[in-house]
Amino acid sequence: MSAEEAASLYDCLEAVMNAAYKSGGHWAVNRWSGFENVTVHPYPSATHGNRFVINAVNKIGADAYQKYEDVQAMPIGSTIVKPSFTLSSDGQASLGPFFVMEKMTRGFDAETADWRYAMVMPGGQTVGITGGTNSAAMNFCAECHSGAEDNDQLFFLPEEVRK
Ligand code: HEC
Repeated sequence: MSAEEAASLYDCLEAVMNAAYKSGGHWAVNRWSGFENVTVHPYPSATHGNRFVINAVNKIGADAYQKYEDVQAMPIGSTIVKPSFTLSSDGQASLGPFFVMEKMTRGFDAETADWRYAMVMPGGQTVGITGGTNSAAMNFCAECHSGAEDNDQLFFLPEEVRK
């Protein structure tokens, strides 16, 4: 898929994604359409199930996130979401999970640098949320992300897809 194809596919999919995740209980599924999409076009993410993803950030976090490797620490209340989809060999798109990171107040969880991770399925079911339902299912998120300890546990996006 070329960059242009990926970008125009995303334009078509955004509304479908919004509707699909929306029925769920996580607050971000109802709000992310107002977040800043910091991604030029969807890119494949090996670490999120080899799905195509974009990253979008709420107002509180958008400027800080886009400092990328210079960020040091994200403001409390920053929320980063990553909707995903896969493409079959005949070009059919299927929605994948919606990944969320929320920067909570200090002391929320020292191991996650106070990030609350969540994963929501298309259809709206929350698979798990750090400190809440099925919290243990989100440990693998934090375990991998804690490798980015110099950047507040963030890995950012490949340079070529940064806006
Ligand atoms: C094996 C490592 C790994 C695992 C497991 C993982 N991630 Fe990530 N995550 C990354 C990498 C690498 C990036 C940046 C590049 C990309 O998007 O592929 C990223 C980016 C993100 C971002 C954008 C913020 C940032 O770091 O720049 C969010 C949100 C996110 N992941 C949520 C999750 C959630 C929620 C889970 C668990 C359900 C999870 N991740 C599991 C490696 C991982």
